[in-house]
Amino acid sequence: MTGTSKTPDADLLARRDLAFGKGAKLFYDTPLHLVRGAGAHVFAADGRRYVDMYNNVPCVGHAHPRIVEAMARQQAALNTHSRYLSEPAIALAERLTGLQRVTQSAIFSCSGTEAIEIAIRIARIATGAGGIVCTDHTYHGNNMLVGALTNLPAGDTRHPDVRSIPFPETLRPLAPGLTGEALADAYIARLIAAIDELKASGAGFAALILCPILANEGLPDIPQGFMAKAAAAVRAAGGLIIADEVQAGYGRTGQWWGYDAVGLVPDIVVTGKPMGAGLPLAATTAKRDLVEAFRGETRYFNTFAASPLQGAVGLAVIEVLESEGLIERARVLGAELKAALRQRLGHWPGLADVRGLGLFLAAEFVDSDGAPDTAQAFELVCALRDKGFLTSIDGAFNNCVKMRPPLALQRADALAFLDAFDRAVAERHA
Ligand SMILES: Cc1ncc(COP(=O)(O)O)c(C=O)c1O
Repeated sequence: MTGTSKTPDADLLARRDLAFGKGAKLFYDTPLHLVRGAGAHVFAADGRRYVDMYNNVPCVGHAHPRIVEAMARQQAALNTHSRYLSEPAIALAERLTGLQRVTQSAIFSCSGTEAIEIAIRIARIATGAGGIVCTDHTYHGNNMLVGALTNLPAGDTRHPDVRSIPFPETLRPLAPGLTGEALADAYIARLIAAIDELKASGAGFAALILCPILANEGLPDIPQGFMAKAAAAVRAAGGLIIADEVQAGYGRTGQWWGYDAVGLVPDIVVTGKPMGAGLPLAATTAKRDLVEAFRGETRYFNTFAASPLQGAVGLAVIEVLESEGLIERARVLGAELKAALRQRLGHWPGLADVRGLGLFLAAEFVDSDGAPDTAQAFELVCALRDKGFLTSIDGAFNNCVKMRPPLALQRADALAFLDAFDRAVAERHA
């Protein structure tokens, strides 16, 4: 850290520690001071330009003029809470549910956490049961209810109405030697056991919640047939499926929704992060009867949600994604980048896997014994930053280099990133 030097960043860091209280996390071995962004580029206080290979909130690109204009125009005209008739948020709900096809009505909120909490409450009201099943290395948000789902080991009973199951993956299968449908069945057996346990405990079973692409788990390859079998098991047990599209949605995978990319049909869909391109905007969507049961029971209100401003900005984001062909770009450029990473980096012994869909990729690193190598992944992320490319670490063991750029990423920047990644790994092995 630069804490003792007298550089402007050292001063800012010292002020930050006082203003925020020490312990507020920063990326990289030395913190990065950013002041401006444009497209898939961000600029540091020292004038250096970085290719942003990490940020998904500005999915349409940093400081997109169409978003800035929509934000300014609506704020200049009117912004109120939702207890007046107003066009933009209604139009956004119509547009969003139209794109999702499996939902009909929307409840807006201001963060993914809030939207997930609403989804859980909808499922509980609809089923009359409390139990929620999640995956064991997930993250869905940070309040007390939703935070109970974070990194909860399978079998842990500390939250009476939450059980986790091992996240389905092929790299480190649940039982050695299991592959394909048999491996999927082994994970499904754990799901059914968790549901049965919740029922036996008296909590009952309300819902399975998962990110369709298991983003925080490190984008594992999911055993063939798992999603369809999981949906069948959940429905047979009288529960609902909540798809957390906070990371997977809005074109990230090269399709509008992660659930389409993996063949899952959810009952409740949660969106957030990229929805407002930085304006706090999230949504919980479902069939109308589910939403109306929730509204009837809770009289839910959220001061900043479903506002004209959220509506106008949310509509502008969808419009830019469509008019600039960004979802198609995620599909095509993402596939090219993934194949090129595999080809260029595949010979390095520490690289276990390159995975992902669209413009959301993970490169997993292991040591010479095949154990997760968090230090190596972190060193590479710092080396990439030194070369002008922003990534981060992620995954169940924090040993994956996570690549999740704005969908506005240009091909030339993706190719330059590939070179930089190859050089960073080569330098580490030199
Ligand atoms: C998959 C997923 N769901 C939900 C959330 C929570 O969103 P928020 O930080 O807006 O509360 C996150 C945040 O990282 C996330 O990754």
